[in-house]
Amino acid sequence: MELVRAENLSIKYPNSDETVIKDTNFTIADNEIFVLVGPSGCGKSTILQALAGFIQADGLLTMNNETITGPDWRRGVVFQNSSLYPWFTVKENVGFGLKARKFSSVEIDQRVKYLLDLIGLSNQNNMKTFELSGGMRQRVAIARVLANKSPLLLMDEPFGALDAFTRAKMQKLILDIWQQEKTSIFMITHDLNEAIRCGNKIAIMNAHDKKITKIQDNPFQNINLEELNDFELEKKIDNYRKDILKLINK
Ligand SMILES: Nc1ncnc2c1ncn2[C@@H]1O[C@H](COP(=O)(O)OP(=O)(O)OP(=O)(O)O)[C@@H](O)[C@H]1O
Ligand SMILES: [Mg+2]
Repeated sequence: MELVRAENLSIKYPNSDETVIKDTNFTIADNEIFVLVGPSGCGKSTILQALAGFIQADGLLTMNNETITGPDWRRGVVFQNSSLYPWFTVKENVGFGLKARKFSSVEIDQRVKYLLDLIGLSNQNNMKTFELSGGMRQRVAIARVLANKSPLLLMDEPFGALDAFTRAKMQKLILDIWQQEKTSIFMITHDLNEAIRCGNKIAIMNAHDKKITKIQDNPFQNINLEELNDFELEKKIDNYRKDILKLINK
């Protein structure tokens, strides 16, 4: 089923005359990881901001056939350096949205416990978030968004600030979460290996066209390149990556 539809989507920032996105089209299906790649400044974050409802766009932009007009708990956003509430504990941060939406404390406790388990931070539940490492903080940010059961997660370079080792672990975590929670994910990354590891679909932008120029299936999702011992497959993935790079650099 289709979750999001963008048709002839064009975006300008209110303080500028420049059209950042012009007439782009895409759809995101239920339970899909849609990864967007492209050069710096091409407009990836701008598309995410429109999806989040933070900025207004021209053309059609719908979720569940309803026009996106503003931020909404059904679209949870995770940034590269997500700000948590530093004076709250891990547990309180994750439960915050549910509390605001007046869920009962029993429901909140259950959901938070499940999520802390999922992200591997059960033992840190009473720590203040300023006491956490960057990777732990990003996991809390993801759990906080998941707590709301948002059908769509919007992630802008969520692991961009993490070291390669932590990053690989987070990619695995995202795939696990996605399988358990059955959410759809729109993710921006500049790391093509990450795109290939995580995406069902890979959408590509270049520096000139102001739109998504290609959306392709990714047959190599969930393959960990670090652990790959198959030369033929490695070569195929390498060619797949190079073809994407060509489109990005066009
Ligand atoms: N708040 C804003 N007001 C005006 N122009 C903006 C604003 N944010 C971004 N832009 C412009 O929109 C264009 C696209 O920016 P955007 O942040 O979407 O790029 P990006 O693809 O996410 O880049 P990066 O990979 O570096 O994050 C740039 O020319 C940028 O200067
Ligand atoms: Mg960006």
